[in-house]
Parts: sequence; C-alpha cells; structure tokens
Amino acid sequence: MPDKYETHDCDVLVIGAGGAGLRAAIESSAMGAKTALVCKSLLGKAHTVMAEGGIAAALANVDEEDDWRVHFHDTMAGGKMLNNWRMAELHAKEAPERVLELERWGAVFDRTRDGRILQRAFGGHRHKRLSHVGDRTGLEMIRTLQDKGVHQGIDVYMECTITRLLMDGGRVVGAFGYWRESGRFVVFRSKATVLATGGFGKAYPVTSNSWEYTGDGHGLAYRAGAELIDMEFVQFHPTGMVWPPGVKGLLVTEAVRGEGGILRNSKGERFMFKYLPEANRKDFAADEAEATRWVESVLADSKPDGRRPPELSTRDNVARAIYTEVKEGRGSPHGGAFLDISYQPADRVKKKLPSMYHQFLELADVDITKVPMEVGPTCHYAMGGVRVDADTCVTTVPGLFAAGEVAGGMHGSNRLGGNSLSDLIVFGCRAGRGAAESAKTASRPTGSLDRQIDEAAAEVNAPFGRTTGEHPYALHSELQEIMGSCVGIFRTESDLKEGIRRLEALGPKVRNVRVEGSRMYNPGWHLALDLGNLMVISEAIARSALARPESRGAHSRLDHPNYDPHFATVNNCVKQNDTGGMTVRETPLPKMSDELRKVYDEVEAMSLPAKA
Ligand code: FUM
Repeated sequence: MPDKYETHDCDVLVIGAGGAGLRAAIESSAMGAKTALVCKSLLGKAHTVMAEGGIAAALANVDEEDDWRVHFHDTMAGGKMLNNWRMAELHAKEAPERVLELERWGAVFDRTRDGRILQRAFGGHRHKRLSHVGDRTGLEMIRTLQDKGVHQGIDVYMECTITRLLMDGGRVVGAFGYWRESGRFVVFRSKATVLATGGFGKAYPVTSNSWEYTGDGHGLAYRAGAELIDMEFVQFHPTGMVWPPGVKGLLVTEAVRGEGGILRNSKGERFMFKYLPEANRKDFAADEAEATRWVESVLADSKPDGRRPPELSTRDNVARAIYTEVKEGRGSPHGGAFLDISYQPADRVKKKLPSMYHQFLELADVDITKVPMEVGPTCHYAMGGVRVDADTCVTTVPGLFAAGEVAGGMHGSNRLGGNSLSDLIVFGCRAGRGAAESAKTASRPTGSLDRQIDEAAAEVNAPFGRTTGEHPYALHSELQEIMGSCVGIFRTESDLKEGIRRLEALGPKVRNVRVEGSRMYNPGWHLALDLGNLMVISEAIARSALARPESRGAHSRLDHPNYDPHFATVNNCVKQNDTGGMTVRETPLPKMSDELRKVYDEVEAMSLPAKA
C-alpha cells in the first residue's frame, strides 16, 4: 500500500538545525549514514546566534596557563558541582579541537597580533578563553557549519515542525510532523534520531529566545518515555535590553562585560562588588583600582594583569544582583541597571562590539559609545534537559539521541557563558557519531506505523474541531505570566505551589485549545501545538524547583537560601508515569573519578594573585 502521507527514509534523522543539529548531521553523514536534517525555522535561524560573545575552549592563545584542566574546573565550579563530570571532562578536552576544526572549515575568527585565534574574558572563566568573531560568534559558527553540511550533501527539510516520535517495540524509529507553510503532513522513517531542538525560553515573558524555542525536543522525548534532569535550573542572562518594550529581553552579550563594561545602579554605585560570593571572592578585584588594572589588559588584548572585575562573576549571581538592585529601588529609568562601555575609545567599541553598537542605535536610539546601556535579566538558556550518556549522547530510550541545549547534565546548576557553543560542537559531533553507529545495526520497524501516524494526525487536527476552547495566544500569555511570577529568578515554596496549582488549572484549557481557519499559513495553530510542549516543561520546572529546597546556581529559593549537602549528590529526574502524570524523583549524581577530583582540587587551590 502506498504511504498515506509524504514519507522520507533515512538512517539518521536530526531534529533541529542550530549548532548541535548541524554538527551532528555533518558527523553522521561523514560516517556514511543517510542523514536528514529537519528544522522548524529557516536554515541558519537558530538560537545559536544568540551566543554572541564567543566559544569557550582552552586554546591558551592569550593566557598560556590555560588548559583543559582549568576549563574543567571552571565549568564544574560554575555549575556548583552538579554537572555530569564525564560530560564536563569530554567538553573541556575536546573543545579546542572542535574550534580549530571550525577554523579549517572557514570560520573567520578575530586574531591575536601573531595571527592566532583571539580569546576574550567571560564570567566564571579564570582565563581569557572565548574564541570570538566580534560579537557575532554564534552567527559565524552557524554560517560555517551550514556551508559545510550543505556541501557534504545532507538532506535539509526546512520549516517543518515535528509533533511526535514514532516508536517500534520501545525504540524510536522516526517522526511525524507538518510543513509550516502548507500544513501538509510528513513522516520520516529513521534508524536513529537525534534531538537538537534547543531550549524553551518562550515559557517566560522576558526572554532572549525567539518564537521557535518552545521545548519541542523536551516534550517529544518526555512523551517517548525519556528522562529529563535538572529542569529547575533555568538561566537568566543578566543583560537583556529593557527598553523599548518591543525588544525587551533581546540579548546584550556578556562580551560587553568581557571587554570591560561596568555595571552601575541609579546612584552611580558599582554594585557588583557587594554581591561577590564569599567562596570565591579571592578571584575578583577587591576595589575599583584593581578592576581598572584588569581593564587595561583588555584594552591591550593581553594577558590579564590582576584579578577579574566583579562584573565577570557567574551569570546566576549577576542576574540576581541586577534584579535585587531594581527591586530595592536603585534601578535605571526603565527598570534595569546601567552597563557602561562608553568610557572606551569609540572605534574600539565599534570594532569589538559591532552588533551591540547597531542594535542599540537602531532599536533604542542609544549610542553606546557615548552613554551607558540599560539592561536587565532575560530568560536565556535551559540547563535542564534530556538525560544522555556522556560518550554517545544516547538517551534512556533506544534509538533516541540528544545534544546541545535540549540535553541535560553538562552545565549542572548554572552554565558559564561561551560553554554553550563549545557544548554544541563537542556533543553535536558525539551525538552524530553515536546515532550513525547505532543506525548501522538497527533494522527497519517490524510492524506498521499507520496507527501511530493516524493518531498523530488526529491530534494536530483536533484544535480545528472545537467550538468552546480558548485561543492559543491568550493561553500562552497566561502560561508566561505564571512562570514569570511564580517560577522566576527567586522562588519560594508558596509561590511554587501556587504556580503548580495554576498550571494544573491551565492544563484542561490547553488540551481544549481552539483554532480557527485552516492548516495553511496558520501561526495560531502552530502555537496551539507548541503549547503542549510548553506545558510539559513548565510543570517539570515548577515541580523540580519545589523538590529542591536549597539554593544552588540558577535555582534560588528565598526560603532555603543555602546549599544543602544532600542536594549536592542528586539530580531531580522527571518522567512520565504509567497514568500519563508527571513523576519527579531524586537520582544519584554519578560520582566523580578520584583522578578528576584531584584535577579539580589542584586548580581550586591556585587562586589568581592580587597585584600590589
Ligand atoms: O552573552 C553572550 O554572548 C551569550 C553567550 C552564551 O550564552 O554562551
């Protein structure tokens, strides 16, 4: 019998075409697997481009003391030791080679005076470690990977949303989806599938993410029976635009602070000095004079002279500090903090931060070479995601792999800036390899997939048949309001319980969402389908946050402000139970090997000296 819907056969199906998806597809096709790459948006439009400031990799081009050990240490310290240590180890060891490979494939990095890849400072990194292309690093990464992938012959399917993974005997064997333009259905049959769908910023009202980031891969994996971990850890990037309203949340790269940007409140105070964590205060400049000496090294593109300025504390800390300053009445006119780079020569600012210069001039009529920017926290990144094996990126469901932001574990409770781009290429490569290897021995489904396909088609058609439901835009606003007010930067037991109660009340409304018109060119219908995934991840975040009565990394409980040693040893693991409900349970964190523990302790003991 002919297939009911347009059907494509491949060995490896990659869902998502940001840095991780592209790198996975390149690796899988290089291994001889027939590879299909599906993306919701146009090729090249990925949240990867919002990692503007650089790729973290211990190349040691500016600070010769840097090596994978220090990068491993910084990543674990930034994640407050909740990271999957094996992922952090592989990441630190392999990131340099992945960056050099990008260069061989045509990425045009900024250069040191002697022609090597230039590296800049970023929060939580002890050394100048971020390879960059001005403030457009993610864009250059995507351009390079896209060129490489297309020339290598990967089949690309753009503007296609996947709504369901197809299963055969507990194994993922393909996916069902629709073309966003025509609404026509499409089926992919695969031997192995890689999720590389990124994050879920659209669950929050203020975010650096664009419309695509609705937790699709998290939802697909969860419904296929996979485990999600660390969902309580949501990264709020400290610096998004706060004004004008139409661009609220748009990213202001950490590279502004890496290049010497200074944060002040409405009283002119350099407030970050008072928010430095006691535990690593020694790594930071003690006063303005010392911080100024550090800036001199930035201006000279040379090895830092002295300890880091307070603005380069980790993101969780800086975001909380800005939020607190605003809440306590010391905010800027539009509810943010002032970020100032205007004291530097205008030519330098335009050269190092060209996108920021244009972004503020064109969108806010602000010339950042003359006056400070106004910035505030914006939901940027999901540390939590699908549980994977560090070496192969296989999930807990056979045939299903995950890499990049959709995968959990690598960053623990807080990701360091720049570690996302390196994560994408290190684990994108590993996932592509893992999937291609697995496809070699996997066979095609034994039975028909027709019943699952019919169910999937009925599910996506359902919103058109309803007469009583609410519209998707109203439901999305309600969801964002709940997440922003009850599950935001600071949390309490009562707010979280209130958030869960309101999500439970929203659930039936989302299941009964109503859409008008037809499947052609219908953004309301697209959002209606995305809402299901947003509900899964929102509930997972709120329930996991309630199940962690301590503060660690990006998870700040006002009612439990300290670390709890018990929670240093567990991940919260979210799984769908037999009745379709959500279960959150603690699972033990893999124990770090003695050898790596020694590496960590040795680096920890080497604090950066203060200059006299
Ligand atoms: O601030 C930035 O450029 C973002 C980088 C990142 O998220 O890694």
